[in-house]
Amino acid sequence: MNTESRLRVAVQKSGRLADNSRDLMVRCGLRFSRDDDRLIWAGENLAIDLLLVRDDDIPGLVEEGTCELGIVGGNVVEERRLERVYQGLDPGFEDVMKLDFGACHLAVAVPRDAGIVDAGQLDGTRIATSYPHILRSWLERRSLKAQPVTMSGSVELAPRLGKADLICDLVSTGATLAANDLDELETVLDSRAMLIRTTRDMCDARRDLMHRLTQRMEGVVQVRESKYVMLHAPRAALAEITNLLPGTEAPTVVSLEGCDDKVAVHAVCNEYVFWETLEALKSAGASSMLVLPVEKMLA
Ligand code: PRP
Ligand code: ZN
Repeated sequence: MNTESRLRVAVQKSGRLADNSRDLMVRCGLRFSRDDDRLIWAGENLAIDLLLVRDDDIPGLVEEGTCELGIVGGNVVEERRLERVYQGLDPGFEDVMKLDFGACHLAVAVPRDAGIVDAGQLDGTRIATSYPHILRSWLERRSLKAQPVTMSGSVELAPRLGKADLICDLVSTGATLAANDLDELETVLDSRAMLIRTTRDMCDARRDLMHRLTQRMEGVVQVRESKYVMLHAPRAALAEITNLLPGTEAPTVVSLEGCDDKVAVHAVCNEYVFWETLEALKSAGASSMLVLPVEKMLA
């Protein structure tokens, strides 16, 4: 096996993004000789290997070129980027694309009895966080004079331990905050999983593999977000209804047997179709709406 030209992708070993990251690779058609105890999953059908690591280590591995690609939360990416920027250094990695999983946000949260209801009250407080650079940047933008207290874990315990007055931590379901009597004050950063790549040079073979893999990933994400929408529309409202369909260029318009004032509209929506979208379509006169998943797509 020529390790020189194999592509390496760093993914989270266990945690929020682990299952989705591996699942994405499998949907891209990659097969691995897997062994749950090993930290490297060797690709069987393409020269692409997975490195299973701690999420916080992923930007560093990509930056030093140990891995060419990494799948990691936008929160971890942004923290590392700002750390490098504050040190006057290039990040050494760049974003390739946003992925469609791992949505969460970084928020400032306060103990329920602290009497803090507005970010304007943060001056002079201590804020525990594992994201000191993101927090610092946010405080600077808001001209707030609070003191970040860096902790590597169990941040939600800091106020009770007397280490800080409030916290800045990742919120996904909100269960951790609720269990610790903490209330969200403000969102500091919205995050989801991202694909990042090294800015280092690589051989042509690796570059080609990276291109193939990222194209497949784009296809998988695109299909997962796409829906096939069918509805009936009053002919008079056709333009308005077409405009409301997210990410559609030219829908197919079909006449309905024995009905002159209505048409059937079929369209592939390349952006997420929310309930709100359907409600807006209904208000515009649409009826008999169906939203179907798309299995595969080839432009
Ligand atoms: C985050 C955060 C909280 C928890 C919030 O930790 O520090 O503990 O998740 O999630 P919830 O709102 O669903 O309760 P994470 O599991 O990401 O660990 P890590 O930061 O060490 O990777
Ligand atoms: Zn982590």
